[in-house]
Amino acid sequence: MSVAEGENRTAMPAEIVRAGPALRFFARPKISIHIMVVDLRSDTFTLPTPGMLAAMASAKVGDDVFSEDPTMNALQEYAADLFGMEAALFFPSGTMANQTAIRTHTRPGEELICDAGAHVHYYEGGGIAANSGVSVNLIQGERGVFTAVDVEARVRPDNVHFPVSRIVCIENTCNRGGGRVFPVENVKEIYQTCKKHGLKLHLDGARLFNAMLAEGTTPRQQGELYDSISLCLSKGLGAPVGSLLLGDDAFIHQARRVRKMMGGGMRQAGFLAAAGLYALQNQVARLEQDHLHAKLLADTLSSLPYIKDVLPQQTNIVSFRLSESVETDHFLGHLSKNGVLAMSLGPHMVRFVTHLGMDHTGVEYAIRTLRGYSPLS
Ligand SMILES: Cc1ncc(COP(=O)(O)O)c(C=O)c1O
Repeated sequence: MSVAEGENRTAMPAEIVRAGPALRFFARPKISIHIMVVDLRSDTFTLPTPGMLAAMASAKVGDDVFSEDPTMNALQEYAADLFGMEAALFFPSGTMANQTAIRTHTRPGEELICDAGAHVHYYEGGGIAANSGVSVNLIQGERGVFTAVDVEARVRPDNVHFPVSRIVCIENTCNRGGGRVFPVENVKEIYQTCKKHGLKLHLDGARLFNAMLAEGTTPRQQGELYDSISLCLSKGLGAPVGSLLLGDDAFIHQARRVRKMMGGGMRQAGFLAAAGLYALQNQVARLEQDHLHAKLLADTLSSLPYIKDVLPQQTNIVSFRLSESVETDHFLGHLSKNGVLAMSLGPHMVRFVTHLGMDHTGVEYAIRTLRGYSPLS
């Protein structure tokens, strides 16, 4: 439960830290006691549930670098079958799964087309250039979503001056787009454009299960549309570690070589695979609660005088803008003093993410805390 009971110590005042241990002994830091902590920073803060821990503790394991871990093999087969794809490979992170996919699909000097806010470009440390020697051609989409026309406009003609367009990357849901679903109809058209130009289509599906739930699509429908898909087990699904990369046999064979080269080959990884398998089999349907909680938060925020606007909420992410007169740090400080944790996305932009670590009581508590905020206090 992220609605955990506990205490939140406020930071030690700077003058006491500077004064050293003698003064610290007399001047005790202020301690504020909270009943609740509601952690809305990210769904990556989820902790394993008791059922998941039990599955991990009883997992049968072997050396996965030798493909001899039975639980890992079971997870990979289960996921590949779920999406109707030939094979799957486990990774320690979504970043490594995405970067491996890009490296496997491309050669240095080629180009990747994606939205300007896409995780692969914006948040993966320049990995496209560093790991693959590939440049990017960015689309200014609408909250992460773009169309086949946008892709067509960026495909390079055959001319020695240009890099070779090789791969398009879609993100679903779009993280910086406020958890927006990338509509399946757009993907179908983009897929056709990719095939016409011989481009690969990769999906960063860190939150694909949230997208499928919101749009009503199935894993098999998604699996038909991409050359490769990465999925995160460690976000809303609640596993402590792990992502999967899906594709055809030849692609996954090559991706396994790249993973090893990047240092991502793990030994008794079946303990982690057990958590992932448990998540896929038991913790997908409950994402609906997270979407309901996000809607409650979005509706509340829309009614508050100090909020400028709230991006349309579809899944478990709520991104919103504070009015110009509100200091982001002041607002976040009020929340954290009351045990509600949130993340800033830039000037005046704040993000809430709901997940299995909070229940309805926690969400109501966060709503009361939001209602109790005054920019003047
Ligand atoms: C859309 C998206 N893709 C990929 C990742 C990377 O996942 P990881 O943190 O496991 O590397 C994240 C992480 O937040 C994400 O939001």
